[in-house]
Amino acid sequence: MTTPLYKQAKAPIEDRVSDLLSRMTIEEKVGQMVQLAAKFEHDREKLEEWNIGSYLHCTEDMPNELQLRAEKTRLGIPLIFGIDAIHGHCFENDATVFPSQLAISCSWNPDLIKLMGEVTAREVRACGIHWTFSPVLCVARDLRWGRVNETFGEDPWLIGELARSLIQGYQGENFADDNSILACAKHFAGYGESVGGRDAYEAEVSKRKMLALFLPPFEKVVSEAKVASLMAGYQAIDGVPCSANRWLLHEVPREQWKMEGFIVTDWDNVGTLVSKQRITKNIKEATFLAIQAGNDMIMSTPKFYEAAVSLVKEGRIDETTIDSSVKRILRYKFKLGLFDKNRYVTAQQKEKIIGCIAHWQAALEASRQSITLLKNNNVLPLSNKNTRDILLVGPNADDIFAQLGDWSFGSNQAGATNDDLHQKATKTIFNALLGYGQQHNINVNYIKGADCEDETFNEIELAVKAAKSSDVVIACVGDTLNQLGEFHDRADLSLSATQLKLLKAIKDSGKPLIVVFVASKPLSISWIKENADALLCCFNPGAKGGIAITEALFGQLNPSGKLTISFPHSAGQLPVYYNHYQGWHAANSPLLNGEERYIDLPKEPLFCFGEGLSYTQFEYSQLTIHNPILHSGETLRFSITLKNSGALDGVEIVQAYVNDLVSSVTTPVLNLRAFKRVFLQAGEQKIIDLEITFNDLALVNTNLEYVVEAGEFELFVGASSKRCDLLKTKFEVV
Ligand code: BGC
Repeated sequence: MTTPLYKQAKAPIEDRVSDLLSRMTIEEKVGQMVQLAAKFEHDREKLEEWNIGSYLHCTEDMPNELQLRAEKTRLGIPLIFGIDAIHGHCFENDATVFPSQLAISCSWNPDLIKLMGEVTAREVRACGIHWTFSPVLCVARDLRWGRVNETFGEDPWLIGELARSLIQGYQGENFADDNSILACAKHFAGYGESVGGRDAYEAEVSKRKMLALFLPPFEKVVSEAKVASLMAGYQAIDGVPCSANRWLLHEVPREQWKMEGFIVTDWDNVGTLVSKQRITKNIKEATFLAIQAGNDMIMSTPKFYEAAVSLVKEGRIDETTIDSSVKRILRYKFKLGLFDKNRYVTAQQKEKIIGCIAHWQAALEASRQSITLLKNNNVLPLSNKNTRDILLVGPNADDIFAQLGDWSFGSNQAGATNDDLHQKATKTIFNALLGYGQQHNINVNYIKGADCEDETFNEIELAVKAAKSSDVVIACVGDTLNQLGEFHDRADLSLSATQLKLLKAIKDSGKPLIVVFVASKPLSISWIKENADALLCCFNPGAKGGIAITEALFGQLNPSGKLTISFPHSAGQLPVYYNHYQGWHAANSPLLNGEERYIDLPKEPLFCFGEGLSYTQFEYSQLTIHNPILHSGETLRFSITLKNSGALDGVEIVQAYVNDLVSSVTTPVLNLRAFKRVFLQAGEQKIIDLEITFNDLALVNTNLEYVVEAGEFELFVGASSKRCDLLKTKFEVV
């Protein structure tokens, strides 16, 4: 008997896919489109009966067990397993945990983010899993949204740049080696724009705004990183849920962008069409809509299977439509080598790779580069010589979950709150500082003092007493797992009242107050900005965050992060993203000095996009455009002189923004279009060359076309999106 073509490892993938498809029954084909949850026994039971194509959230020995069962089915098609490895393979104990996506975005370092992808891919693959539901390309627009921590911040262009690198890290060179996994760009699209920051709620976005703001990062990763999959958002846009939107799922990615990858729904999106969005009355009709719209794989809607089979048998769905979806999925099973050699994993393999030294080094480097210094009255860095007694306070100084953040153990998706998980490798800020103190003869005393949630927890008196005999107080404040993530949107963005009381009492004690902000996202921390002597923003800094923060406190590390998201003075100031529009009427009021602002709040956000200090100083001068008259298709080339005028070596993130001066539609006051991380030794000066491509000057006109309109543009280059940090010049498109 000859080996069927689809089992011949050397045959071309397209031939193997066609051969396999020609042998499949309609039931087997639909089974490939079904993804069920491995944690449910009733879902695991369906494997043989429905010829399931994929499971999500397989842990421990499950991948091998399920794979073995799949191998024994009629055609032996391997399963593909997906998991939310969002900032490392965090649902695997002892795996490497990186800072949250928001935290690492503050590094503005595509190479580092690619490395995070490579490390994560190796660890995921070593566990027999092939696909991560990452990265998140949502644009963070409303900070009340619980999922802000999962994003790369508020700028669509930067999101595209960083996401492309992360995907390249996950997928390697087209899955050429056995360490690559499929990436999934999500949530497609406009999910971050849901009204009031209410997760999965209707998004208010026009088609033009979709094209201008929310689709470009996805287009970038489809065309430049060949992302293997997209996940449809939960929300509806202008009355049409994403999973039922054929324009969004089919026309844009497949017809316009020529995407090869497949589209997966989010968790039970098809069921939601009936139960919540109520655009159809039963699962069969929802299934019809979902298939017609272009979904290829259906996550966790078990009733989809029977509905889809009968729709094909009744002739309402054409079998060729199913074939197209199945082909898209099978192609990746072949690419990953699952039919040939890579189906099973061994315990030894896993042990060698999970949390190995090189991986943890990468995570530590990521924690370091995520740290952003937002204020410094010269108290930082602390000196070993003059510091004898440190008082450490605050709920997040010794909280493993606050460091690991969302999509790790303890977060609402994992459930497990067992403190042993990730315990071995995690260094809390307290532990790291204590270790440092022991080496340098510095006493470190920790009193929690206050809680993120529990307003009755109060050790303030104790803390104030201890502060009196300390040289300096370090306060680690922020939010906790119950205040972030899916199902945890917040109306108020303040710190808990007891945390604030603790900070005020410490300030009154007269000791220098250093605040370390460990939180999932920006909160309204005006008091800290005004009163703390120094402020380090770390978001969820990852398992090695404690070490990196200690290094920054004592100057072994010179902080280099820059915010990728703005901080508001209060939730009432939202939205505060930097790329806003002009035309707010407050401008003419004499009371406001001609500023566009609320009468009761300053104009600027509390901290702006791009902001971040260093222990050294950088000076910008001589902004020069080399080709100030730009013809169609030409790249704008310019340079700036950057000098490290301080006494320490450091890294500066140079940012370039454009403003289209007169355009046929309104455009944002600033759009980030280039950046560069630059290392300069103390006293060193360099000319920094930058470029902006012609297409990056485009707007979306009222005919829904991307066009670069002739006319003048302003170019701004500097240290942040704040006008006072930027040098300005002009160029012209002719
Ligand atoms: C989330 C997705 C996630 C999926 C699977 C959903 O609730 O919205 O981002 O990938 O669950 O865990």
